[in-house]
Amino acid sequence: MHSPSFHKFTRRVLLTLGFAGCALSLPRVLVAQEPSPLAPLQRPEIRKRVDELLQKMTLDEKIGQLNQISAADFLNPPNREEMIRNGEIGSFLWSVDPERINKFQHIAVEKSRLHIPLLFGYDVIHGFRTVFPAPLAMAASWDPAVEEGAQSYAAREARAVGVNWTFAPMVDIARDARWGRIVEGAGEDPYLGAEMARAQVRGFQGADLTAPDKVLACVKHYVAYGAAEGGRDYDSVYVPETSLRNVYLPPFHAAVNAGVASLMSAYMDLNEVPASGDRYTLHDILRGEWQFGGFVVTDALAAKDLVTHGYARDAKDAAYRAFHAGVNVDMASQTLSKNLKALVSEGKISIEEIDEAVRPILAIKFQMGLFEHPYADLSKKDQILSDPAARQYARIAAQRSMVLLKNAGHLLPLKRDVTSVAIIGPLANTPADLNGGWGVPGQAPAVTVEEGVRKKLPKAKLLLERGGEIRRTIPSQFEDFFPGAVKTPPLSEAENEREVQRAVEAARKADLSILVLGELANMSSEYGSRSTLDLPGKQEELLEKITALGKPVVLVLVGGRPLNITWASEHVPAILEAWQPGTEAGNAIADILFGDANPGGKLPVSWPRSAGHEPLYYSHTLTHYPESDPEYRSRYWEGPSSPLFPFGFGLSYTAFSISNLRLEKSELKAGDQMTVSADAENNGTLAGDEVVQLYVHQQAGSASRPVRELKGFERVALQPGQKKTIHFSLGKRELSYWSSSERAWVEETEQFDVWVGNDSTAKEHATFRVVP
Ligand code: NOJ
Repeated sequence: MHSPSFHKFTRRVLLTLGFAGCALSLPRVLVAQEPSPLAPLQRPEIRKRVDELLQKMTLDEKIGQLNQISAADFLNPPNREEMIRNGEIGSFLWSVDPERINKFQHIAVEKSRLHIPLLFGYDVIHGFRTVFPAPLAMAASWDPAVEEGAQSYAAREARAVGVNWTFAPMVDIARDARWGRIVEGAGEDPYLGAEMARAQVRGFQGADLTAPDKVLACVKHYVAYGAAEGGRDYDSVYVPETSLRNVYLPPFHAAVNAGVASLMSAYMDLNEVPASGDRYTLHDILRGEWQFGGFVVTDALAAKDLVTHGYARDAKDAAYRAFHAGVNVDMASQTLSKNLKALVSEGKISIEEIDEAVRPILAIKFQMGLFEHPYADLSKKDQILSDPAARQYARIAAQRSMVLLKNAGHLLPLKRDVTSVAIIGPLANTPADLNGGWGVPGQAPAVTVEEGVRKKLPKAKLLLERGGEIRRTIPSQFEDFFPGAVKTPPLSEAENEREVQRAVEAARKADLSILVLGELANMSSEYGSRSTLDLPGKQEELLEKITALGKPVVLVLVGGRPLNITWASEHVPAILEAWQPGTEAGNAIADILFGDANPGGKLPVSWPRSAGHEPLYYSHTLTHYPESDPEYRSRYWEGPSSPLFPFGFGLSYTAFSISNLRLEKSELKAGDQMTVSADAENNGTLAGDEVVQLYVHQQAGSASRPVRELKGFERVALQPGQKKTIHFSLGKRELSYWSSSERAWVEETEQFDVWVGNDSTAKEHATFRVVP
């Protein structure tokens, strides 16, 4: 089932075709996708060790490698230790307890017949002991290098307790902020998403998996989970081949090309086939076209859920369908382990197919050096988990991820001669919410906004008010996983109102107010979908009342998604999107507010005006009205359908200009590359960063192409008055796309637009033609 040779990979073929029987013949070039580098596991010496081991293994032991069991105190079978001894478990998940991990590992390598070490998986999503900004925030840095660094710290800390496999990166493209899991990925764009995916795989795995501070990465959730209908978590996805290929698959393909060791199949139905039983995506594309050499794990219980979906008849049928589709490891449901043997004896699955499924798991265990070094080295644990360098890095990462959305009258950076500041809002002083979702037990609590501001203003009077509580109307089924989740009974309407009044009074007394508003950690992420994007609770009322006082107000947004701040965008002078900044939250927010760091982050999503504007993304296709037609500027009659802030947008305390766009050629031969250059200049008086962005549009072709698509970016640091030339490369990789009419990747000989600028509305424009 997993043989890469099953579907022969099409080598790069260049064919010039025309439309047969069509009056107008469009010359085009069909291209194959880049071949993926063979996974590091295909080394001959490892292959030999795997084959030798496989020969010694019984069928039960082989099936054991496909079985992943909970190491936590829920969803676990009572006889885990006996199962390890019998070789019935290949990996565990959900424990970060080094004693337990080493104990289980000891049983596997000392007491089981073949001494095969276990893998220990955990959701190390944006940090372990040290928490880095949430993935959406990291994408807002437009700085893959800083994301790579953060994930390498996360890998080091996780490995210190024995976790050797992370269920990250999450690379689902999300174009609807109602979907709670938008916070876990890189936003709406496949190009930015692919860059962040690659960076995370590099950060987790490094160049050498035997390194003692690296973990296996697991790219998830394959595929198109982010397109859940209505933004409702787990809901059905209908995605045509063209969006699958051009939008949802590229970050996965990038991770595979970067050598990712494992991939997680998603929960939801994709075009009416549950993703964890979908042979087309898991086998034909992943193994056949991309030559993926790692292994596939289902999402938790997803193999069993093939029955719940109304896809498989019963558990045995579910095991068959998941396995046949291309699943190697069954996360926590034991559907494969309980049914594969019967399926083999019935002749539905062959031993060779079982061997093929086990092979990459063993290969990776060898590749990691786990047979030689199976245990967590606890002598280094405390030193690694308390390394101050990780905290410093987290502070820089948080600074770089924040996006300045508005700064009227240069209210920011704040002056330090203020004598009193009101710090108001339900997110100002809640460390767990400033850290964000997917908290790991024992994680370092986040520095609060009060603590951060206090360091900048040691003498000023700080007035602290929550201004009303916020909470989910319907609790999350994962409430226990959110360290900060409120357990107390809700406040009454009158109590909330009193908190709002107290906050307004504090703002009246202070020289200025910093309002820290948004969402708690449990309001986004898994099971965190919403039907509105409004500020929860009384936050909008609080904001409006305090702004009405006429004193300076800074709005700092904390949370995992863009929210409806349409009113604020018109009335509040300064707005900073801080996302879920992690352990150094308060320090990084204060660094930005007081000008010790200059904001340079850019939006990885088009910012909606309301939930009714979703799904929203900049790279939509054209309609039968020209884009510039004033009659058709909005698709809604009540107001603009455009984003409140465009994709790629973010302000700075200094001013930049991007000019002098030049193309190496006006005619580019298909298959060739050319350099596109532009100058970025800091025209202000402060040092700062600008993200220079390159967008492309194909004017005509075998399918309509989006108005523009991101095809290059670079975050550049510039001193006042400094000018730098930025170079981008444009060629087949950037210009080809999956054509729905050709049902193939094409690079078409057509006319193209290019823009460079500092967001997706970039104005600097040129054109070129791709020629045969
Ligand atoms: C379910 C989530 O969808 C997935 O992202 C996560 O990795 C697994 N549970 C394991 O915790």
